[in-house]
Order: sequence, then structure tokens, then C-alpha cells
Amino acid sequence: MTLNSSPQPETPSVPTPGPNNDSPDMNTANKSGVVPKLRPTDEQPPTTALGQFAKLFQNSRNEPGVPNPDQAPKIEAQDLCFFYGEKQALFNVTIKVPPRSVTAFIGPSGCGKSTFLRTLNRMNDIIEGTRLAGKALFDGQDIYAPNVDVVQLRKKVGMVFQKSTPFPKSIFDNVAYGPMIAGQRNRRVLGEIVETCLKRAALWNEVKDRLAESALALSGGQQQRLCIARSLATNPDVLLMDEPASALDPASTARIEDLIFELKQNYTIVIVTHNMQQAARVSDFTAFFFEGRLIEIGETQTLFTRPKEKKTEDYITGRFG
Ligand SMILES: Nc1ncnc2c1ncn2[C@@H]1O[C@H](COP(=O)(O)OP(=O)(O)OP(=O)(O)O)[C@@H](O)[C@H]1O
Ligand SMILES: [Mg+2]
Repeated sequence: MTLNSSPQPETPSVPTPGPNNDSPDMNTANKSGVVPKLRPTDEQPPTTALGQFAKLFQNSRNEPGVPNPDQAPKIEAQDLCFFYGEKQALFNVTIKVPPRSVTAFIGPSGCGKSTFLRTLNRMNDIIEGTRLAGKALFDGQDIYAPNVDVVQLRKKVGMVFQKSTPFPKSIFDNVAYGPMIAGQRNRRVLGEIVETCLKRAALWNEVKDRLAESALALSGGQQQRLCIARSLATNPDVLLMDEPASALDPASTARIEDLIFELKQNYTIVIVTHNMQQAARVSDFTAFFFEGRLIEIGETQTLFTRPKEKKTEDYITGRFG
């Protein structure tokens, strides 16, 4: 898939961070940015404060992430910096997100998680006075190249927000909206898309008899799943989720987490969460941000039980933030 209609620039090669590069090390990543599988010698017992997470992983459904080193990252940032006017919000973020995986972004309020997420589908473009330096790549293509079709990019890199935002339209029309805008007028085809996406978003059984009703009549958890279905209708590769369950009750949160687990078979998911347990439960990889910098990224189980950085340990054990 290409993001533009003009000839493609050569895919940029991935620079290896040099000594003068003040981006934080990807501590658990090797030089090619690939997170290596745990070696038995790495498996020391966790410290007591981290023991709570070790327990969580005993019942985890997630196998430790084993990205194929030959597999190109779906999303990548190289030395990415971001500015709101004079204020710098992101500092030299370098990260690779493997395809068909869940990566969680954690970190205290104001550390730049949402800002970084929004750079990945150019949602910050709509904020005046912002500036980006460095690179963001989707399937190896520069997201910020001048010839990129932003509408096409946002179809491929969908976004789900903290507060569900259904249109004041019927359930059917909410999901059919994207394909209709893209020119699909065939009611039968639209019906198939709506059914498929609602099934994928684990909402079909609850709404199949009331598709013509207003989406605003759904519960908060149902609305959030509807927004996920709406994102799926544009056939994305990536779903960016900014605290998708933070406004939901425990039962709805569990449904969203189950859904994320299902969706990663087909999609690459990046989720921002303040909930450590949630990050530990749903993600294969976790990235810890602090004051606009990526401090550490690694396999979720490793990051939560044997973080490399003291700052990461302090944060996940609740010493600050
Ligand atoms: N539209 C904006 N204009 C100016 N500054 C902004 C804007 N949005 C965010 N910022 C600033 O950028 C920094 C990072 O904010 P961001 O929203 O990315 O943090 P966050 O990690 O998502 O926080 P939270 O966990 O509270 O959602 C903060 O200092 C914030 O004040
Ligand atoms: Mg945020």
C-alpha cells in the first residue's frame, strides 16, 4: 500500500544511534531495533516491589513477544522531536513497532504519550504552530513526506480516543461512514462491511437488531466498541488507541482488553494507558516515556519485572506519577 500516487522515494535506511545521538537507548532492543527473545540467563527473580507484576504474568495469555527479525516494523520513529510553538514536547524518540503486536505507551501525565501517538497519523497537523523534526515511518514510508495523502494515511492508521466520539447518526451509518465517504454507495456491500466490523469489534450481537437506532443511545462501553468498528471500516493496518478504556467500568474495560487481544491477529495496535495492570495484560511490548523522552522499551514482561532503568522501576512501582 502506498500513501501517495507519485513515485515512491527510496525507503530510508535505519540509522544506528551514534554516540552523539542523545536519544535514549532502546535498552532491550539490539542494534537493528529488534527486541531479542529472553535468554535463560536474563531470568533473574524480580525484586519485591516488582513481584506484583510477576504474578500477573503467571496467568497471561500473551506469549513473550518474538518479533521476526526479518519482519520490517509497521511503524517507526527516528530521532523524532515535536514542538508546540517554542515548547518542545518530544525529544529524539526512536522506536520500532512490530506488525501484528500490541505496544503500550506508559508514563506520567504530560510526558508526551498522546503527542507521540498523534504524530503517527498526523493528527497534530491540525494544531497551529506545531513543528516536527526527525522521521516517522509507516511501512517504511515517510509519513511527513510532502506527497503523502493524509486522508489515505489516516485510513491506514486509525485512531480511537479516550472519550468515545460516535456521530449523532444511526449505528449502521457510524460504521458505514468511512466507506461511504470513500465512494461506496452499494447498500448490500455497506451492510456486509458494517456486519464484519461490528463482529470484529465484538458488538454485533448486542446491536444487530437495532442498527437503525441512534449510536448515542448505546452505553459508554458499547460506544467505544462502535468507534473501534468505525475505525476498522476503513480497513486500517494500525490502530492507535489513546486511553480507550479509561472512562469505562471494569466489565467494559475487560471487553475492550479482550477485543485488543483478538484484533492483534490482524492489526498493529498502539495503546496509551495509565493502568499498569492493563499494559501488562494486553501488550507484547511496553514503552516508558518521561518528560518527552522514550526512556525504555522492551517486552512487556521484561519491562515490568526487570526494568533496565531506575526511572522505569520507580514509575511502575508507583514511586511517582
Ligand atoms: N495542543 C497543545 N498545545 C500546547 N501544548 C500542548 C498541547 N497538547 C499537549 N501539550 C503539551 O505537551 C506536553 C505533552 O502532552 P501530552 O498530552 O502528549 O501528554 P500525555 O503523556 O498524553 O499526558 P496525559 O497522560 O495527561 O494524557 C505537555 O506538556 C502538554 O502540556
Ligand atoms: Mg494523553
